[in-house]
Amino acid sequence: MTESPARGNLLTLAVLISGSGSNLQSIINAVENRLLEAKIVTVVSNDEDAYGLERARKAGINATVIDHRQFADRQEHEQVMAEHIDHYCPDLIILAGYMRILSPWFVNRFPDKILNIHPSLLPKYKGTNTHQRVLEAGEVEHGASVHLVTDELDGGPVVVQAKITVHPDDDVESLRNRVLEREHVIYPEAIRMFSLGKVRAHQSKLYFN
Ligand code: GRF
Repeated sequence: MTESPARGNLLTLAVLISGSGSNLQSIINAVENRLLEAKIVTVVSNDEDAYGLERARKAGINATVIDHRQFADRQEHEQVMAEHIDHYCPDLIILAGYMRILSPWFVNRFPDKILNIHPSLLPKYKGTNTHQRVLEAGEVEHGASVHLVTDELDGGPVVVQAKITVHPDDDVESLRNRVLEREHVIYPEAIRMFSLGKVRAHQSKLYFN
């Protein structure tokens, strides 16, 4: 079972990004405001233009680019990512808008350690274009989920969800903005639950205390 950190030890996080990094920023803010007893030990992006790298550097956090386009295949890229992450020995690996699908090899190399945030109320709307699909389906409720990453894409157990109401005049942009606002609350909250030992992951399952 993933041990919660010993008292006095901070939960250490490696954060993987590909873009804006607004979720990364919400975690940085929660740490700086002492709402979250954790330390971001490294931020890794597969894209050198990701604005999240700037956010990390401003906060004095190691920010590294490991560009997938510079490797022969997924396996080689993930191998280098894994070695980089190993160097920092994080308690959790936080996917925060990381836009590459991780292979089962990578997921199984860090069992019960990887969290993701997904813009839907899982298990509904796995995959991409969630806001568009929610509108097309005429849903009245939508939201975001923080979940443990397992072999199944967007299929691991959910740690926390946030719901929003879909209004008749909503479009993709308005849904994206409102869901993102909620993401910024629940991602630090989910990590905090791990830091306090309120949830533990073991063999792809979550146990809540
Ligand atoms: C979020 O909508 C998240 O749910 C999805 O990617 C987006 C990342 O946004 N996985 P940001 O880079 O954190 O601003």
